[in-house]
Amino acid sequence: MEKIKDALVKAKQNTGNKSERKKEAPNTESLKSSHELVNENNLNAISYVKTKTIELNPNHLEKNRIVAYDKSEASTWIFDKLRTQVLQKMQENNWKSLAILSPTPASGKTFLAINLAISIASQPQKTVILIDFDLRKPRVAKYLGIEGSSSFNDYLENKANLEDVLVNPGIPRLVVLPTLKPVSHPAETLSSAKVNALIQDIAERYESRIVIYDLPPILNADDALIMMKKVDCILFVVGNGMVKETEIEEAMHYIPKDKLLGMVLNKAEVSAEEYYY
Ligand SMILES: Nc1ncnc2c1ncn2[C@@H]1O[C@H](COP(=O)(O)OP(=O)(O)O)[C@@H](O)[C@H]1O
Ligand SMILES: [Mg+2]
Repeated sequence: MEKIKDALVKAKQNTGNKSERKKEAPNTESLKSSHELVNENNLNAISYVKTKTIELNPNHLEKNRIVAYDKSEASTWIFDKLRTQVLQKMQENNWKSLAILSPTPASGKTFLAINLAISIASQPQKTVILIDFDLRKPRVAKYLGIEGSSSFNDYLENKANLEDVLVNPGIPRLVVLPTLKPVSHPAETLSSAKVNALIQDIAERYESRIVIYDLPPILNADDALIMMKKVDCILFVVGNGMVKETEIEEAMHYIPKDKLLGMVLNKAEVSAEEYYY
C-alpha cells in the first residue's frame, strides 16, 4: 500500500499534476475536489427517437456495484466528487473524450467508467457516451445488465449502423455503445479505418457529449496504447493491492503527460485470478 502511494506521488511529481488525493473516501480515493462547473447548454430535452432504451434492473446494478444512479446510496458522493473533478479539468482543457486506463487488470476501470458516466449524466447540463472498447474482456454491458441488443460486434460485422447499436440504459442523457462478446484481433480492430471512422463520427455527431472509453489495461496488450493517441485525456486507475510499483511506473511511462487528467486509487478487493486476461 505504501509502495503504491509512493509510486503515485512520484508519478504525479513527474507529470507536474499538483492535485492531491483525499484519504477519507470509503471505496475510491480521488483527486482533490474543485468547484462545480458552470452550465453550458440546457440538454435536458434529449429525446431517444432512434436510440433503443433498455430498462435496467436495480438489483443487478447493485450486485455489480453500479450505484451512481441512486442518490440515496451512501457511496454515490464519491462518484459525484470524481465527476466534478473530471468535468472541471475537461472543461478547462476543452477535452471531450476520456480513456479510463490502468496498468493491470481488475483495477476497477469498468466499475469507475460506468459509475462516472452515470454521475456525469445526472447533471442536467451534461450528456455522455460510454464506449466499451475493452475488446478482450468487454464488461460494460454485463455490469449494466444489457443483453440481447445490437452491439459494437454487429457494427464491426457490418450488420448495423452506429445509431442502431447505441443504447440508452434508462438513464437520461446517457448512451452506451455495448460490446457483447470479445473481438478477435482487438489491437488491429482499434487501429482500423472502420473504428477510426466511428470515433470521428461520435466526436462530430455528438459534439456536446463527453465520450468515455473503457479499455483493457496498459501492460497486457497494445490496445490501450493505440487508444491513448485517439482520446483527449486519460484517467489512470490504480487498483489497491492489484499492482506492483514497477507496473505503475512502467504504465505511466506510456501515458502522454499532457493527456493525463488524473489518477484514482481504487480500493477493489478481488483476486487477480478472477480477472486474468
Ligand atoms: N472500489 C471498489 N470496491 C469494491 N469492489 C470493486 C471496486 N472497484 C471494482 N470492484 C470490483 O472489482 C472487480 C473488477 O473491477 P472491474 O471494473 O471489472 O476492473 P477492470 O475493468 O479494471 O478490469 C469487479 O467485480 C468490480 O465490481
Ligand atoms: Mg474492465
